[in-house]
Amino acid sequence: MGKPIRLPGLIDIHVHFRDPGQTDKEDFYTGTSAALAGGVTTVFDMPNNLVPIFTLKTLLEKMKIAEKKAVCDYGFYFGTDGKNITEFEKVKGLVIGLKVYLTLTTGKYLLDNGQKLEEVFESWPKEKVIVVHGEGDKIDLAINLAKKYKNKVHITHVSKKNDLQVIIEGKKTNSNITCDVTPHHLFLSKEQISAKNTSGVARRVYPERSRRDSPDGGGTANGFYEVKPPLASRVDQDFLWEHLKDIDAIATDHAPHTIEEKKSNTPPSGMPGVETTLPLLFTAVKDGRLTMKDLIRLTNTNPQMIFGFRQNKNTCVEIDPDEKYTIENENLKTKCSWSPFARREVYGRVQKVFIRGEKVFEKGKILAKPGLGRNILSPKSGGV
Ligand code: DOR
Ligand code: ZN
Repeated sequence: MGKPIRLPGLIDIHVHFRDPGQTDKEDFYTGTSAALAGGVTTVFDMPNNLVPIFTLKTLLEKMKIAEKKAVCDYGFYFGTDGKNITEFEKVKGLVIGLKVYLTLTTGKYLLDNGQKLEEVFESWPKEKVIVVHGEGDKIDLAINLAKKYKNKVHITHVSKKNDLQVIIEGKKTNSNITCDVTPHHLFLSKEQISAKNTSGVARRVYPERSRRDSPDGGGTANGFYEVKPPLASRVDQDFLWEHLKDIDAIATDHAPHTIEEKKSNTPPSGMPGVETTLPLLFTAVKDGRLTMKDLIRLTNTNPQMIFGFRQNKNTCVEIDPDEKYTIENENLKTKCSWSPFARREVYGRVQKVFIRGEKVFEKGKILAKPGLGRNILSPKSGGV
């Protein structure tokens, strides 16, 4: 083992922990355990639960669950269908932002009524971020609304060259526009996936499901790679890498679905990621594709700036820079127990994690008691 490298704990501003409602896929304990195993010390959970977080009541229920189960720090987004605007005032002090779905994804919480959308942008408190799920002309729409109503707007999981170009233009005249990309759009492309269907060679990086569950030790279904926005082309992928300076954050969109569902004829969209992002990024640093400075900017300092909070300076992670290891489904802490990056060889295994100076993870073991994690908006979280 090499001399460990210490980094500030990663802040993942986009996860779906499915609790309450679909705890067969993930819950706050397994999700935050997976986060620690991946060196992530703060997660922001999305509102598209089975019963969406559109009311103060549903939000309070979710907060109670996290308070009991979380082993890392967390924050919540509120959701909207455009009909719950009167709730905004009640929840604004309890959430880190609002999530708006302008294109369809899991849960079908689409906000496609133009009038309602205007009302949402007009009414949401200006000091809190609106995170936008949208592609193509929906990105133009969000940028225009941000300008009109003076909102902070963050476009999440940008995957295509054209979309990033539009955002780069928008950012030139509006410093309130930010964006993120996911590790799966950085490290997987649609060409890679279709190549795997015709060539056995590509199997090395192929599925994704546990060997236990996979009679052929590999698998042929593409459902594991079904995600929204879809995996893009090599050209798009290269464009993201070439324009990292224009990107503000890396967020996983950790979206666990069960192996059964992903193997089915109607696989739901989404893939887990909270556990594998740091080693993937650190391996990119080793390969000279990313600087350590950018890794920290994209996963720690910028998320704090965008959302206006401070992570405690004793919340940090130690990784082994030298040992190469293979991502294995069997070793994952996410309840869905598969990864789109299974069988990849990576560096940067997480050795230890500290939250507010307390050791919460060491050598694959969660040391924190459920409930140690705190809501970052609580004064007790130890930030500012
Ligand atoms: O593929 C996706 N799955 N994209 C999203 O934006 C949501 C997510 C989910 O909740 O499953
Ligand atoms: Zn998402």
